[in-house]
Amino acid sequence: MLDLHNLSFMSDGRQIINDLSFTFQKGKFYAITGPNGSGKTTLSKLIMGIHKATTGNIVFAGKDITNYTVTERAKAGIAYAFQHPARFKGLTLRDLLNIALGKDHKADMRDIVEKIGICSFEFLDKPVDSKLSGGEIKKIEMATTIALNPKIVIYDEPDTGIDLWTIDPMVNLLKKEQTEKGTTTIVISHNRTFLEAADTVILIKSGKIAYQGDTRGALPLLSDLSICNQNCKVHENDGCFR
Ligand SMILES: Nc1ncnc2c1ncn2[C@@H]1O[C@H](COP(=O)(O)OP(=O)(O)O)[C@@H](O)[C@H]1O
Ligand SMILES: [Mg+2]
Repeated sequence: MLDLHNLSFMSDGRQIINDLSFTFQKGKFYAITGPNGSGKTTLSKLIMGIHKATTGNIVFAGKDITNYTVTERAKAGIAYAFQHPARFKGLTLRDLLNIALGKDHKADMRDIVEKIGICSFEFLDKPVDSKLSGGEIKKIEMATTIALNPKIVIYDEPDTGIDLWTIDPMVNLLKKEQTEKGTTTIVISHNRTFLEAADTVILIKSGKIAYQGDTRGALPLLSDLSICNQNCKVHENDGCFR
């Protein structure tokens, strides 16, 4: 459904993505993981068209989209939720949902918020500005991304800043979107709950795929990576095994 052929991305003389090829199958759930700085966000930005590949090409649903703009990719059904979402002074979640749903929609915003289940009604009319916490803004971005009904969606570290109690509902929500709507779902995460929910785990190291396969096969490799130093025990509490 989404084919990456020999993708490379060079910036400032550095090879950040290195001859990477992969096929994402329709309706499957993927977790991309790997050390900080390994190129996960860069790869997702190449798919969304925020960065332009130095070499290689991208085929989506049989069409070569390598030269498509971000807007053209969004219209084709690709959505992307940023690692650090934008904040909009003066706009509320209700405004963002209205934009995501299009001008002719008749949907009831409370129904949508209820269905999404990870944000509360009180967010609807709160400005999506710098006063929101990191976790709140991630929930709002997930809500607006789901409202777009994308064919394929990439969430870049959706669990950043999210409280422990929201991780499971968040994973369940994305799994529900995947199974009920057939949304091809790609989540960049270090969180074990997301990795265990995935059909396929992709481990990125130095801009290349170091592993692709089931979660069980990935776990020993991840603990061997020594991504963190000894003081990383703090992550055990949120299910991160770094
Ligand atoms: N546009 C860019 N120009 C130059 N270097 C970049 C750019 N984007 C990311 N990088 C660098 O590329 C590497 C990979 O970054 P990134 O994709 O954000 O990693 P990850 O998401 O895996 O932590 C990092 O060393 C980062 O500093
Ligand atoms: Mg990143």
